[in-house]
Amino acid sequence: MQGFSALFQPGNIGKLRLENRLIMNAMGTVLVDGEGNVTERMFDYYRARARGGVGLIVTQCALVSADATPPFTWAMYDDKFTPGLSRLVEVIHEQGAKVSVQLMHYGLLLIFGGFIPEGMSIKVPSITSWLVGDKPYEEMGEADIERYLEDFAQAARRAKEAGADAVELHACHGCLVSTFLSPVTNHRTDQYGGSVENRTRFARRILERIKQKAGKDFPVVVKLNGSDDIEGGITIDEVVRQAAILEEAGADAISISSGLEFWTSLSIPCYAYPEGPMVPLAEKVKQAVRVPVIAAGKIGPELAEQIIRNGKIDFIGMGRPLLADPELPNKLREGRREDVCWCVYCNNCIRVEPGQGSCSVNPSLYREGKYPFPPAEPPKRVMVVGGGIAGMQAAVLMAQRGHQVSLYEKSAELGGQWNIAAAQPGKEGYAAFTDYLRRSLDRCGVPVTLGIEVTKERVLEMKPDAVVVATGAVPRGLNIPGASSNHVVQANDVIMGKAETKGSVVVIGGRFIGMEVALWLAEQGKEVSLVTLAGLGENGSKLEGMTYRTLARRLIELRVPLYVHTAALEITQSSVVIGWGAEVFSLPAATVVLAVGAQSDNKLAQELDGVIPEIYTIGDCVSPGDAAAAIYQAARMAAKI
Ligand SMILES: Cc1cc2nc3c(=O)[nH]c(=O)nc-3n(C[C@H](O)[C@H](O)[C@H](O)COP(=O)(O)OP(=O)(O)OC[C@H]3O[C@@H](n4cnc5c(N)ncnc54)[C@H](O)[C@@H]3O)c2cc1C
Ligand SMILES: Cc1cc2nc3c(=O)[nH]c(=O)nc-3n(C[C@H](O)[C@H](O)[C@H](O)COP(=O)(O)O)c2cc1C
Repeated sequence: MQGFSALFQPGNIGKLRLENRLIMNAMGTVLVDGEGNVTERMFDYYRARARGGVGLIVTQCALVSADATPPFTWAMYDDKFTPGLSRLVEVIHEQGAKVSVQLMHYGLLLIFGGFIPEGMSIKVPSITSWLVGDKPYEEMGEADIERYLEDFAQAARRAKEAGADAVELHACHGCLVSTFLSPVTNHRTDQYGGSVENRTRFARRILERIKQKAGKDFPVVVKLNGSDDIEGGITIDEVVRQAAILEEAGADAISISSGLEFWTSLSIPCYAYPEGPMVPLAEKVKQAVRVPVIAAGKIGPELAEQIIRNGKIDFIGMGRPLLADPELPNKLREGRREDVCWCVYCNNCIRVEPGQGSCSVNPSLYREGKYPFPPAEPPKRVMVVGGGIAGMQAAVLMAQRGHQVSLYEKSAELGGQWNIAAAQPGKEGYAAFTDYLRRSLDRCGVPVTLGIEVTKERVLEMKPDAVVVATGAVPRGLNIPGASSNHVVQANDVIMGKAETKGSVVVIGGRFIGMEVALWLAEQGKEVSLVTLAGLGENGSKLEGMTYRTLARRLIELRVPLYVHTAALEITQSSVVIGWGAEVFSLPAATVVLAVGAQSDNKLAQELDGVIPEIYTIGDCVSPGDAAAAIYQAARMAAKI
């Protein structure tokens, strides 16, 4: 492999010349205002990515129809939105990147967002038996179809008038256009349903109308599903034919994604997927069309370089890696691969609320305008206690501001619970973040002391100006009879190989760690069942849907018995007694694995309260959460100290 030279060759989409083969894929942000307008924060976000050296930025989806645009989603259904887009295009162009505007009608994807405003209906090609719940579904008539063709075309015209270099037609993931393409969601018997040609008709007509309105030289990329990732969904042979029809109708490139987002998990593949799960699908399409093909989905730089170099794919669409590190393209181009802060595909970025949203490895995501933090005034001597990711991240950011920081960790290595996560099968990539933080600490010259448990006495001896307590959390026990028996072990100990599981296993706890451990044991051929007090993945805050579905689907495929809404009442020497409905049953269990959450270790913080004038607590020691929360708290604290 000769570096990444293939990735940094120029390439064309229609008449549009791109400096390199890296494209930032469309990603909805939380930065739009309540009326669908661009904001300064959105400019900051895109400016950082454009400056980072990516060839083309595909914007987050812009919604083309007024009747399917909930608040806080970017709108392009009226000329009043053109000036905002124009400014965004300028911001991106100023940094040397090109810009393509993704055009979308939500359709069935509205159910993915979960929020459907009063009076808004969900337009679908057909009302099928899979459309469950009391949602306001509405089957589209001819008049709707004609209206939406025009909506797409007008939005494309606006994009062109605003100076955008291209548009991308969103026709994947279960949005309106995609539901026409898929046999699962399209059961129509008119000219828009049935054969592949008929199901492609809506997309083809939109494309033709866009070309009429915006000009035939204005590049249009179509983003298709290579697979719906579901029983009865579209096959790759059909996709290849759809791509050929769309090429014939004027598409300048085909981008391949997958999955119906509300039912499946392949669209945004989490850590549990192997690298590049959709690449083979994109390669098949590439063999059938003459226009460039863009592949996306968990593609690391070596794979990216290889498939471009071999001519199997023309461009690489990158999403989450550019959230994690906007400078990724520049760093690869300059031979600084080791400086990249790698996405760990944890999918915390998908769990978003308007104005919020975070990345587990990049606290500046969506807050780019606030970085870098200003120099400390005055610099202080700061002692950070706890070398988990919260403590490490805080130490780096404070040192960068000029504080004199020292970091103390009681165990023999940095990383805390993140090391346990990284020891889980499939999560090996998580270790990249601790490596990155370790290198950053080195670079900032932060002295790290390992193997020392910091006590109140030690703090008083050191006399720091401020103490940051980042002492994390430890696994919670279960307060039922028998829970302290020898055959009851913690999930963390099973993961770390400190506890063995023998015979039939019952896992208690149905959030991510419980699901992951049960799955891992089942994959080893062990007899395992799972008991959880709430629904699967539901105890407390909602789990991220893609990861949840990945795990739940595999548990179901492996036929792991899932006892949901079920209380574990007692643990005996050979069973777990459960309350199941109004009855009591015993599940045979030679080993019981507890995955019932964590509890904060805030002992030191309590001891120091009132003794030390300046004390901050961050991360899981405040309340057990996730990595994104831990590093965001670290950054917020580091900005104000
Ligand atoms: C198995 C597992 C899987 C997980 N998977 C995910 C995931 O996929 N996505 C996600 O977002 N989150 C995940 N998490 C949660 C995530 O790891 C934590 O939220 C995060 O690591 C918390 O970081 P922290 O620095 O606040 O605390 P910790 O990681 O607990 O670090 C605290 C550190 O402080 C040290 N310490 C404590 N007291 C002292 C003292 N007195 N002196 C010196 N040092 C001290 C401890 O040894 C520890 O190293 C997972 C957790 C586990 C256990
Ligand atoms: C936060 C987030 C928002 C996304 N929003 C969109 C979107 O609006 N339109 C779209 O076509 N894909 C969307 N995607 C999917 C990405 O474009 C991309 O196809 C996917 O993340 C796989 O690429 P990656 O593995 O490089 O992240 C989104 C992904 C993420 C993580």
